[in-house]
Amino acid sequence: MSPSPASNRPAAPATTGRFGVRIAGTGSSLPVGRLTNADLEKVMETSDEWIVQRTGIHERRRINHELNESTHTLSAAALRAALSAARMTGADLDLIIVATMTGEMSCPSVACLVAKSVGAGHAGAFDVNAACSGFVFSANIAHDLIKGGTYKSVAVIGADTLSTLMDYSNAGRSTAIIFGDGAGAAIFRATDDPSKGLLAQCMHADGEGWKDIYVPREARDFPAGVACDPSKFGRVQMNGAAVFKFAVGTFSDLIQETLDKAGVAAADVDMFVCHQSNLRILTAARERFGISEEKLYVNIDRVGNTVGASVPLCLDELVRAGRVKEGHKVMFVAFGGGLTWGSSLWQL
Ligand code: COA
Repeated sequence: MSPSPASNRPAAPATTGRFGVRIAGTGSSLPVGRLTNADLEKVMETSDEWIVQRTGIHERRRINHELNESTHTLSAAALRAALSAARMTGADLDLIIVATMTGEMSCPSVACLVAKSVGAGHAGAFDVNAACSGFVFSANIAHDLIKGGTYKSVAVIGADTLSTLMDYSNAGRSTAIIFGDGAGAAIFRATDDPSKGLLAQCMHADGEGWKDIYVPREARDFPAGVACDPSKFGRVQMNGAAVFKFAVGTFSDLIQETLDKAGVAAADVDMFVCHQSNLRILTAARERFGISEEKLYVNIDRVGNTVGASVPLCLDELVRAGRVKEGHKVMFVAFGGGLTWGSSLWQL
């Protein structure tokens, strides 16, 4: 992304649609510690072969509290990298949104801690919880706040540390193999070019599906018919087969809905930046939709499913590799707990 001079807050009043929205910079941050399939074989009954065949994951990252790693520290590091890429400072930001389901505390939000860490002064800051869809939902919000003239510069961070909600024993083996920790950030800014920004966006949820992925805290959180088990408090409970079915179906429907809204053909999209839920889900949906391999980025083999961080981590790797750049049409696609699913098609 080409950098531009920093803005001064507050944003000047503007008329809706007079200008566009561009991605000024991206960044990401991963914990130092690697958790390989071989590491998991030592603590639960599983195998590298089983994990790779069912998920495509070889290793994931895991925070270490002794190194002071947390959702907050990863978020701040990702944002600092994005600010540097955009040649901005924290003081240039009007608003910070953190998409996460693993904030350290219920209050304050991770976004407030990040704002303090990067010196964002009195910029607005809040968290969004839409599980794996959180970054895409938040990017859509950021876009419309800028397009509507309310703000000039909004940072959106997707960050999660699901390792804190895992049971690394046999009881948790169907979830512990999937999830990893990380953070990714993107800075959205107003531009005089009105052709840049969202061509279409979708945001959906189906609360009926809440019990397919949930984190119980007390007895009343278990769905009807499921016995309370205190050993599961604070641990992700997932109906893998139901999520798999939901994700495969949703993936292609969501892409089609977004293309239809924008009036754009799939062949004209330069890159699909998709939530890395499971390689089989990505491959099944890609084949069903006819997307070529080079147009659907995959990093799940190296980082696992990083929930809210998944899409911005991919985006940052693609931007830094020069595979996503100004002029491209790029689609974000995500789905996850809630159930939630969302997309955006960007003209960069
Ligand atoms: N290692 C070895 N065996 C395992 C295992 C592991 N880590 N986890 C589960 N198994 C076993 C099960 O106990 C079961 O054994 P059984 O047949 O003797 O009862 C068998 O493998 C099949 O279990 P199942 O849960 O049906 O496997 P699956 O083929 O559905 O794969 C998932 C499990 C979780 C990998 C798969 O359902 C999935 O990827 N779902 C989507 C999850 C997802 O993407 N979530 C994130 C959404 S954002």
